[in-house]
Amino acid sequence: MGTLDGRVAIITGAGRGIGREHALLFAAEGAKVVVNDLGGDIGGQGTDLTPAQETVALIKEAGGEAVVNGDDVADWKGAQRLINQAVEEFSGLDVLVNNAGILRDRMLVNMTDEEFDAVIRVHLRGHFCPTRHAAAYWRAETKAGRQPNASIIGTSSEALFGNPGQTNYSAAKSGIATMMIVASRELSRYGVRANAITPRARTRLTLQTPGIGETLATELPEEQFDPWDPANISPWVAYLATADCALTGEVWMVFGDQVQRIKPWEMDPEALLSNKGARWEVASLAEQAKTLPRTQSNDPFAAIRDNM
Ligand SMILES: NC(=O)c1ccc[n+]([C@@H]2O[C@H](COP(=O)([O-])OP(=O)(O)OC[C@H]3O[C@@H](n4cnc5c(N)ncnc54)[C@H](O)[C@@H]3O)[C@@H](O)[C@H]2O)c1
Repeated sequence: MGTLDGRVAIITGAGRGIGREHALLFAAEGAKVVVNDLGGDIGGQGTDLTPAQETVALIKEAGGEAVVNGDDVADWKGAQRLINQAVEEFSGLDVLVNNAGILRDRMLVNMTDEEFDAVIRVHLRGHFCPTRHAAAYWRAETKAGRQPNASIIGTSSEALFGNPGQTNYSAAKSGIATMMIVASRELSRYGVRANAITPRARTRLTLQTPGIGETLATELPEEQFDPWDPANISPWVAYLATADCALTGEVWMVFGDQVQRIKPWEMDPEALLSNKGARWEVASLAEQAKTLPRTQSNDPFAAIRDNM
């Protein structure tokens, strides 16, 4: 018995990297998998069905069930086809893993509007479109008296803490985290949970990152646990997808053997200006602002950058 026996899952961007590992594990745990991948380059240009076909071939060789989907996740009609394919080929949909992504890094002062739009499109729209069509399917199921037990997993990033050189990507990834929280609140009435992860793994995206790419490319002795192996991310995602998991509306950092909850935005009780009972004047705010405690840096990559 696998932990995902009989569950139907869509995994976007499953032709390579982290998504491929999700697809292989989900199928090994008994899920029927729709392997979506457009097959473009790191920046999202071009199309190639081969990566998705290879993932499906690997699943079938291991005795699992999977089909290829080559739609663009950020395309409204393509995302609808993706959801329909799961329902038509596997008679339903239980899990949506939004994972597809691209990078177009550049410092803010040099970033073009095309670079900004392309990354926002693939990540934010690419999460919204499949999630929206899946939500409509699950609502219809609920109305037809078949209560879903469904799970959505979004793929955010620690870039949500604010990565220099990634205005577009960081903005998209914090939007994804919040989108999944909204989805969890709106869709619970249809039996749907939603969470996000922020993975860290060796893939073509991180191998090209200045500073850490070289470290990641270094080969480890075979017997040593490799914390950067993208397959380390998939067990937590598979757990979030199981029918018995109760977690929802949360964001989880996953790296190597670590899984850690990321706290949501919260009001800081130590930094509150109040008790005036009337509108502030700028000059008195300027005085009061001097009394505020300094904020602590919440930047997991600061040390890496300092050494670059
Ligand atoms: N690798 C990391 O350390 C890391 C860290 C944080 C977040 N992430 C996120 O994890 C996810 C997977 O990234 P990865 O590192 O495995 O990269 P990857 O490039 O190996 O895989 C991403 C896949 O998404 C596909 N894709 C891109 N645009 C698509 C579209 N519009 N429609 C369908 N498929 C599309 C690509 O063809 C590719 O195969 C991404 O969302 C990425 O932002 C990765």
